[in-house]
Amino acid sequence: MAERRDGTVVCPGSYDPVTNGHIDIITRSSEVFERVVVGIVNNPMRKDKTLFTAEERKGLIEEATAGLGNVEARIFSNLLVEFARESGARAIVKGLRAISDFEYEFEMAQLNRKLDPGIESIYMIASPQYSFLSSTGVKEMATFGGDVSDLVPAPVSAAMTRRLGDR
Ligand code: PNS
Repeated sequence: MAERRDGTVVCPGSYDPVTNGHIDIITRSSEVFERVVVGIVNNPMRKDKTLFTAEERKGLIEEATAGLGNVEARIFSNLLVEFARESGARAIVKGLRAISDFEYEFEMAQLNRKLDPGIESIYMIASPQYSFLSSTGVKEMATFGGDVSDLVPAPVSAAMTRRLGDR
């Protein structure tokens, strides 16, 4: 494998919950960059709407990335570019699944560039087997009793069964 480039990047998201598609992007980022900070957004306005608390989402990401020595998970509740700066990151890395992601991400990247031109936005194309995968889809499937064990890490699948069973 080629040598890692210097530098930290942030992989931001809601991660409610983390999916195998997220893990794919985080793993591939960890192969390219020196240090990857997974940024879990804790939006107080959406607190009652998430399946897992920010701490729980962080714990599930840590379990799933335990084998990756240069990855760490952190919760943030400020602007993404500020969080990237605080983390010592030079760039934000996000996955891009389909054309439908593009419009939203195009706007996000432009807004973030306006807020801080020093933080670059980098998009990594999702692996084809995950191009249909989203946290929202996984939650909907699990809510109606669908099997999500191929789509999320095993501890996430178990945590979803427990949480949805409690409801
Ligand atoms: O997984 P998601 O829900 O697509 O992640 C969205 C995320 C966390 C990348 C986005 O909501 C975000 O950047 N939130 C932090 C606030 C912010 O900086 N917004 C964009 C500039 S106005």
